[in-house]
Amino acid sequence: MDIKNQIFYGDSADILTKYPSNSVDLIVTSPPYSNRRKRSYGGISPDRYVEWFLPISKELYRILKQDGSFVLNIKEGANGEREIYVLELILALRKQGWYWTEEYIWYKTTCMPGKWPNRFRDAWERCLQFTKGRKFRMNQRAVKIPIGNWAKKRMKNLSENDTVRTASATNSGFGRKVENWANKRTVYPDNVLKIAPVCKNHNHSAVYPKELPAWFIKLFSKRGGIVLDPFIGSGTTAIAAVELDRHYSGVELNKTYYQIAKKNVQNALHTKAASISTIKAPR
Ligand SMILES: C[S@@+](CC[C@H](N)C(=O)[O-])C[C@H]1O[C@@H](n2cnc3c(N)ncnc32)[C@H](O)[C@@H]1O
Repeated sequence: MDIKNQIFYGDSADILTKYPSNSVDLIVTSPPYSNRRKRSYGGISPDRYVEWFLPISKELYRILKQDGSFVLNIKEGANGEREIYVLELILALRKQGWYWTEEYIWYKTTCMPGKWPNRFRDAWERCLQFTKGRKFRMNQRAVKIPIGNWAKKRMKNLSENDTVRTASATNSGFGRKVENWANKRTVYPDNVLKIAPVCKNHNHSAVYPKELPAWFIKLFSKRGGIVLDPFIGSGTTAIAAVELDRHYSGVELNKTYYQIAKKNVQNALHTKAASISTIKAPR
């Protein structure tokens, strides 16, 4: 089956069985979160979530290349107490053979206001990274960020101590030489992604911001690679892949969302083609 630049209509549990093994470079997805959005696209009870997810993740493991990553954006709900199905899922995925390599946090810089008697508003979601081993593709330079204004002030007057490597004050074994930071324009980010959630209506109730899959696509795949989203919704992952010169592939169970995704991706392809022809057009 040709999976490159295709969105399939159907259940991932069936469609993914037709994908060739070792064919995808990166998987970035946000599946239904247990019973949330039950009315829009059905729900899965927290007690059955792991059982529902494992056949799909078994196929994802087969489809993913050895050096690929699987990024799972998910967050358990709270109804008096936190649900535990995400924790159970992490343990079950490890038993299935996945390495739980890292947990990134999506901090929603402008999350919905609200008040609850037993907690504060929920401003973060998990982005769990799973891999097939300890070695995987990761281009850390692709997500470097500007160093920030603090550096200018700090580097202005370097003390004698700053020019030599000093041991950690807590005896952690780590040392640092502040002078090394002079002239640096960019630094590596941390594992908290500060991105505003989507507020505009995209004809889908659970759209994530394009910047979220884009960050992982830059970090864990190369140009020309295939990025799969098995719960593609309105097509956000595919749009980010197109904009970053990767191929996309996706599956969507709901016919309306499937059509919206196809349309959104077509629009992204047109915009990209138009911008390329503008650059190439003679003056
Ligand atoms: C959280 S939404 C994804 C939203 C997407 N990230 C976006 O930005 O538009 C989850 C999507 O998974 C779809 N879905 C649910 N169960 C599915 C299944 N078994 N196979 C394929 N898609 C499924 C739902 O219809 C829904 O559109």
